[in-house]
Amino acid sequence: MSDDRIEVRGLTKTYEGGDPRRPALDGVDLDIPRRRFVSLIGPSGCGKSTLLRVIAGLEDHDTGTVTVFGSTPESMCEAKAVGLVPQTPALLPWLNVRRNVSLPARVNRRAGRGSEDPDLLLRMVDLEDAARRYPHELSGGMKQRVAIARAFGLRPDLLLMDEPFSALDEFTREALQLQLLGLWERMSTTVVFVTHSVREAVTLSDEVVVMSARPGRVHEVLPVDLPRPRDGAVVTGPLMHALEDRVRASLQSAWEVGAAPDDLVRR
Ligand SMILES: Nc1ncnc2c1ncn2[C@@H]1O[C@H](COP(=O)(O)OP(=O)(O)O)[C@@H](O)[C@H]1O
Ligand SMILES: [Mg+2]
Repeated sequence: MSDDRIEVRGLTKTYEGGDPRRPALDGVDLDIPRRRFVSLIGPSGCGKSTLLRVIAGLEDHDTGTVTVFGSTPESMCEAKAVGLVPQTPALLPWLNVRRNVSLPARVNRRAGRGSEDPDLLLRMVDLEDAARRYPHELSGGMKQRVAIARAFGLRPDLLLMDEPFSALDEFTREALQLQLLGLWERMSTTVVFVTHSVREAVTLSDEVVVMSARPGRVHEVLPVDLPRPRDGAVVTGPLMHALEDRVRASLQSAWEVGAAPDDLVRR
């Protein structure tokens, strides 16, 4: 058990009422060192959200072990050391943008943890001018930026993100990817990021974890040796395309039985 990594060993999980012959996760082994940016990729139903929730301490598992920086997921969750950003941002509609982002400061004070300056966070996601607006006045991309700023505001040791950009258009998505990387580089948080997009996984990550379905387990872990910052020249260069091809090939080999949805492999 190490305090500088997330360790998942032989993790198995069957949902209550689910078919015990087809567990959601079956023998997942994974190592994520502190401060890495790691993406999980795989088709719907391969257990990505389940794995995130188990690591977050929000879901039980059957067999195997999970430790997060030397602690149990439950104790990390209780200590407010883990943040979770879902696909649809859950903002408080009666609070303006700034108050939504500064909420963690109050929660953290009670948990005895420090928090990040909300005005700095708003600047980093380019929302200073929207500080006094309310959630119903914001676009989907703006709402997700508020949710991300708030999650970093907690100064989590670990940030888990479950397809946070999948409902956004391509242009907004690419802008948010860069803002997310800016925050991550500054805050040195460990990020585990679930996505369906090969390009997004490669753009953001130090490593891409390719998952297979039936059973849900880790198929392959691919390192992304692209320089940072991942600016325009890096993400349009030949190395980027070669890495995307490698991830696609890995996804294909994970489903050579024929279960790989075309849309996932093509994107
Ligand atoms: N709360 C639940 N109860 C029963 N089955 C579930 C529940 N959540 C997920 N599952 C099942 O577990 C498997 C993995 O789901 P999930 O982790 O949501 O996959 P992904 O996020 O990769 O799409 C799927 O077969 C799904 O139907
Ligand atoms: Mg999911």
